Amino acid sequence: MGQIKDKTKLMQLNDADISSFYENGILFFPGLLDPNDIMQLRAELDEILDLDRPEILREKHSNRVRCAFAPHTYSKNYYQLMQHPSIVGPVRQLLGGDIYLHQFSINPKAAFVGEAWGWHQDYATWQIENKIAHPELINVGVFLDEVTEFNGPLFFILGSHKQGVIRPEIDAESTSYVLLGVDNNAITNLSRDHGLFSPKGPPGSVWMFHSNLVHASNANLSATRRALCTICYNRVDNLPKEHPRAEWEAHSDFTPIL
Ligand code: SIN
Ligand code: MN
Repeated sequence: MGQIKDKTKLMQLNDADISSFYENGILFFPGLLDPNDIMQLRAELDEILDLDRPEILREKHSNRVRCAFAPHTYSKNYYQLMQHPSIVGPVRQLLGGDIYLHQFSINPKAAFVGEAWGWHQDYATWQIENKIAHPELINVGVFLDEVTEFNGPLFFILGSHKQGVIRPEIDAESTSYVLLGVDNNAITNLSRDHGLFSPKGPPGSVWMFHSNLVHASNANLSATRRALCTICYNRVDNLPKEHPRAEWEAHSDFTPIL
């Protein structure tokens, strides 16, 4: 992957992007990354999905991979993706300071058997489990496959990040990976006042969303895989105070990126 060490190539957001992020809690850039880089990541993904490692979690009802955590720890290409200037530049701007990698997962959502993710906010888990004081984290999605309306895209409730943490409830049923979910009453109320957004686009598309933005995704009943990376960055002055979880779920290398 080219040029990642050249800080002058850091992508910069304009004022309209930044206002839109504060208003909606998400920015979406269709086809942002170089298709050649994405081809390399996809080629390697096939090998990763065959690995037997503790940080690679499987779906509840099939043996297919649900989350391949921390691929950057054994893959140079995924390590470089995590440092990509078109990602790191905007995230540093949005968080207003130095950042480090908190969590990195590939969610492949296999054709026919990739399961749903119930409504949740990412920060709820990190606040409760890791005692991270502020929701100064951003989750970046990188599409490895084309994401369509059919293969299990995410749904976001625009502006829902402004509510802060909505009383979380444990959701061990709707997904294989236990989440701190948002209940249906809260979703009903939020849906009255806010629009839903479901970004779709070619491989290489990227979103950046606020860690309190409420989101979910359906099962993938289609014949095509929906692999995407979710890469979460935290600000270096907002460190976890507790580490009850595995290193691959909440990293403790707080070295600033770039
Ligand atoms: C998904 O991969 O569909 C959802 C992942 C997430 O909520 O972080
Ligand atoms: Mn999430």
